[in-house]
Amino acid sequence: MTDTIRYDRGADGIVTLTLDDPDQSANTMNRAYAASMTAVLDRLEAERDDLTGVIVTSAKQTFFAGGDLDEMGRATRADAPALAELLGTIKRDLRRLETLGRPVVAAINGAALGGGLEIALACHHRIALDAPGSRLGLPEVTLGLLPGAGGVTRTVRMLGLAAALTTVLLTGRRMRPADALAAGLVDEVVATDEEMLTRAREWIAANPRPAQPWDRPDYRMPGGTPASRGLAAQLPAYPANLRKQLKGARLPAPEAILATAVEGAQVDLETALTVETRHLITLLTGQIAKNMIGAFHVDLRAVNGGAARPSGVDAAPVRKVAVLGAGMMGAGIAYVCAKAGLEVVVRDVSEEAAGRARDHAGKLLAKAVRRGRIGEADAQAVLDRITTTAGLDALAGCDAVIEAVFEDPALKQAVFAEVTPVVTADALLASNTSTLPITGLAAQVARPADFIGMHFFSPVDKMPLLEIVVGEQTGDVALARAFDLGRRIGKTPIVVNDGRGFFTSRVIGRFIDEAVGMLAEGVPAASVEQAALQAGYPTGPLALADEVSLTLIQRIRRQFEAAGEGFVALPSHRLVDTMLDTHERPGRTGGRGFYDYADGSRGRLWSGLADLATDAGRAVPLPDLKERMLFAEALDALRCLDEGVLRTETDANIGSILGIGFPAWTGGVIRYVRQYAGGPAGFAARAAELAARYGDRFTPPADLAERLAAGSPDPARDGRPVGAA
Ligand code: NAI
Repeated sequence: MTDTIRYDRGADGIVTLTLDDPDQSANTMNRAYAASMTAVLDRLEAERDDLTGVIVTSAKQTFFAGGDLDEMGRATRADAPALAELLGTIKRDLRRLETLGRPVVAAINGAALGGGLEIALACHHRIALDAPGSRLGLPEVTLGLLPGAGGVTRTVRMLGLAAALTTVLLTGRRMRPADALAAGLVDEVVATDEEMLTRAREWIAANPRPAQPWDRPDYRMPGGTPASRGLAAQLPAYPANLRKQLKGARLPAPEAILATAVEGAQVDLETALTVETRHLITLLTGQIAKNMIGAFHVDLRAVNGGAARPSGVDAAPVRKVAVLGAGMMGAGIAYVCAKAGLEVVVRDVSEEAAGRARDHAGKLLAKAVRRGRIGEADAQAVLDRITTTAGLDALAGCDAVIEAVFEDPALKQAVFAEVTPVVTADALLASNTSTLPITGLAAQVARPADFIGMHFFSPVDKMPLLEIVVGEQTGDVALARAFDLGRRIGKTPIVVNDGRGFFTSRVIGRFIDEAVGMLAEGVPAASVEQAALQAGYPTGPLALADEVSLTLIQRIRRQFEAAGEGFVALPSHRLVDTMLDTHERPGRTGGRGFYDYADGSRGRLWSGLADLATDAGRAVPLPDLKERMLFAEALDALRCLDEGVLRTETDANIGSILGIGFPAWTGGVIRYVRQYAGGPAGFAARAAELAARYGDRFTPPADLAERLAAGSPDPARDGRPVGAA
C-alpha cells in the first residue's frame, strides 16, 4: 500500500513525520494513511530510547483534509465491520502516539479540518501557521457525521462538555487560526514556517516528558467531571438546548454528537473512543449522511469544478468591473469584487447615491478589521479599489458590467445603452435581475451574445450561491467569463437556462405561496412557521416573505400573471393583496408585515393574521404542513427540469440548499424526491395524495418514477439531467 507519511530522524533525535499522500492533492484518512501510521508507530516505539520528540507536519498546502468522503459516501451496512476496524486502527495508533512518552508537536501548516484536526488533537502541543485561507475545526456535523477519530472524545476532555459542544462540535465552525487559538483548539499561532518549526523544537526541548491532560493523575474535566455536581446539573438541559439551537428539527448527527459527548464524558477514554465509533457507524450507514455528503462534497465539487463551464473557452480573467446601481445588491457586489482584488467602478444616479457602495464596503471592512480578519492596510486597499461615479468616463476600460438597478426592464435597457459604448468592446454584460427573462433583456442590448444573467443573493457578502442565467442568444464566451468571475469572487455558480424567475426565484415563490395559502386556510401562523423549522428550513416562510417584501412578491406575481405562462390564481395571492392594500403591511423594511418589527428586529407574528383566513376548512395535520412546503418546491423543481430551466440535478440540489434554504439534510431538492420513502414512486404516490386533499398543484409528473429510474443511480456523480429529453 502507498506510503503516505515520511519519517525523517534528525541528528537531534527529533523525528519529523511529514503527511504527504503521493496519490492525492490532499491527505485524507484513507486505508493507506492508516497502514502508514501503523508502520510509523511501530518504528517510533522501537526507536523510542533514541528519540527526543516528534513533529507532525504536512508537505501539502493543507495540513490534512480529513476523512475520505468519497469512500464514506458509499458506505453500506455491509461495510460496517470493516469501517469499525479501520476506525479502531486509526484511533489505536493516535493513542499510541499520545502515550509514546516523548513530546509530540503538531506543526499545522495549513487547513486542518475533521480528521486533520483529530490528528493534531492527539499531539501534546499544537502550533498553527497563520496561512491565508487556513481553517481549523470539526465540520462533520455539516455533513451529517460526527468526528470519529477521537474528535468528540478529545475536545470534550480538553475544553469541557459545554464548550466542546457549543463552540466546536455542534456548530461545525471552520475557524481561522486566531479563532481556533481563542477557542482553545491550538496552543500557538505563528506567522512563518520557520517560526513554526523553531517553536516546535523549543517546546520539545522544554517538555521532555509530556502527557496529555487526561492521562495525568490530577486530571479534572474542564467545567466539571462527570461525577461532579456542576456537570450533573447541566446534563438535563442539553437535549432541550440542542433542540432550541436546531429550531426544532430532529437531525441524527447533532443528536449523535450530543449522545457521544455525554456518554463519553462519563467513561474512561478508551471506552469513550469506542462509543464514538459506534455512533459514527450508525450515521455513516444512514441516508442523511449520504444526502449531505452527496450535496456538500460530490455535487459542490462538480459545480465549483466547472461541470457547467464551456470547456473550449480560454480563461480571460476580468480585471475591472462596472457595477450599475449602488443599492443593496450593487453595493454588495462591488464589495465582493473589490475584496477579490478586482478594480470596481460603481455608477448610480448621483455621486451621493454611488457613494453608498463605498460606505457599505467601509462598514463591512471596519467590522472585519475589528474582528482581526483583515489588516488595516489590506482593508484600505480593498476600499481604494472601489471608485464611485455618476458619470460615464470612469467606466472606460471595464471588461465586465454587472447591472443592479431597479427591477424595471426599460430602466435596465437604458443603462446598458449608455454604458455599452464606453466599456471594452467585448466586455461581459450581466444583469442581476431576480426575475426578468434574460432573453427579453438581451434583445435590447447591442451585443446579445455577451449578455447573461448573474443573479446574486442577499446579503451578497454572505450568500455563497450565484445563479448564472443563460439566455437564448448568450454565447459560450459570456458563460465562461461569468463562471470564472463567479469563482474568482468566491461564489458557487450554478448555470440555468432562461425562464421567468429562473430556478431559485421561481421555486422559492412556491414555498411562500404554499405557506401563505395555509394561513388562508386558517392554519395558525405560528404553526406554519414552526412546521417549516421542524422540516429543517433555516427560516420560516412568513419571516422570509417579510424579508423579501410583500410588495416585491406582489409585483413578481403580477408579472407572471401578465405573462400568462400557465399562471393559476391562488388564495395566497388574495391574502398578500389584503396585507398590502387593506393593512399596509409590506414586510420588514416597512416595519410591519407578517411580523411586527420593533427597532429593526423581528418581534411577534402580527395578531391580526388569524382574521385573514378566507378558505378555512378542516385542520391540516403536521406532516402535511411540512410536506406541502417541501413538495411544492420539489414538484416545481421537477417542472424546471422538464422545461429545461434546470440543466442538471446537481445544479438543482446545490441551488436549492445554498440559494433558497431547502433543508440541507435532504441533500437538495431532487435528491429529496429520489430518497423519499419508497423512492420516486413513493414520492409520486404521496404527491397524488396531497393533490387529492389540497389541489392540482401537487399532481406529480406522470412518468416520474420511470424517468428518475432511468437517470443515473447517483446523479451527483455525473450531474446527468433527468429532465427534458
Ligand atoms: P435597490 O433599490 O436597493 O437599488 C437600486 C439602485 O439602482 C438604487 O441605488 C438606484 O439609485 C439605482 N439606480 C436607479 N436608476 C439608475 C441608473 N439610471 N443608473 C444607475 N443606478 C441607478 O435595489 P436592489 O435590491 O439592490 O435590487 C437591484 C436589482 O437586483 C434588481 O434588479 C433586483 O431585482 C435584483 N435583485 C435583488 C435582490 C434582493 O434581495 N433585493 C436579490 C437578487 C437580485
